[in-house]
Amino acid sequence: MTSVQELYGELWAGEKTLDLELQHSLDPRGTDSLFAAFAELGPRAGQLVVDVGARDATHAIRLVRDHGLRAVALDPVPLHVELSRRAVAAAGLEEEIAIFEAGIEAMPLADEVADWIWCRDVIVHVDLARGFAECARVLRPGGRMLVYVTLATELLEQREADRIFTAVAIVPESVDRAAVEARAAAAGFALVSTTELGGEWRERMVEDGTWDAGGDLLRLSRLRRRETEFVERHGQGRVDAYAGSKLWGIYQLLGKLCPTVYVWERGA
Ligand SMILES: C[S@@+](CC[C@H](N)C(=O)[O-])C[C@H]1O[C@@H](n2cnc3c(N)ncnc32)[C@H](O)[C@@H]1O
Repeated sequence: MTSVQELYGELWAGEKTLDLELQHSLDPRGTDSLFAAFAELGPRAGQLVVDVGARDATHAIRLVRDHGLRAVALDPVPLHVELSRRAVAAAGLEEEIAIFEAGIEAMPLADEVADWIWCRDVIVHVDLARGFAECARVLRPGGRMLVYVTLATELLEQREADRIFTAVAIVPESVDRAAVEARAAAAGFALVSTTELGGEWRERMVEDGTWDAGGDLLRLSRLRRRETEFVERHGQGRVDAYAGSKLWGIYQLLGKLCPTVYVWERGA
């Protein structure tokens, strides 16, 4: 254990080099890196990409525009399907992008029709065995699936995990690295690459000024100090989901959650 003498006399005494070094950016990757990773896989015009858990189809629209692909945008939440319909219509891409209200577990698609699956930030909510089996069914042999998933690390304590998983609808197995990799292999996927992003996207957002991490911590503190009042006014579920969404980014900075990008290929 560090002694008081050591702490004040040496470790905290005058030496500022470490802090100065940490004031410099480590040039973290941002969210565009996922699109760059997809582009490197070599999508060709006319091929079909399925955006699983598309929310408002922003990504499907970008993939179609960037690569001349056709797309299917799926989401099981009716609100998201409506947002997708509006966005696709506004983009003038109704011919190129088909939208369905559906989950990863039962996609309204024939066998082996897709060249690509894009699945960003979705499988944490999903039963992996069912979801991956369905992805393997709709992908053609040799087709590839790019999955961005936020995994739990050994720094996430059990009580922190229990609380955040319950609050934001996370299936515990689906944020477990070993389980995710084993389920993908069991569904017939061969691993092409794994990229651990850790806190990079969040660092990039802070450095670019697109995410106010300090503001999120401030709100979390206010929430904790008056939790009973906020729960009375808004309900426990809304308060917990709000706190969970704020902690999601903070835990990435703290290394408790590790966003990871997998590319898997469907075997023949
Ligand atoms: C965090 S959002 C990510 C949305 C979008 N992919 C993105 O990266 O911005 C999670 C999305 O997964 C969708 N989702 C939840 N359960 C799903 C399931 N079983 N199958 C497909 N999508 C699901 C949600 O409706 C939501 O749109």
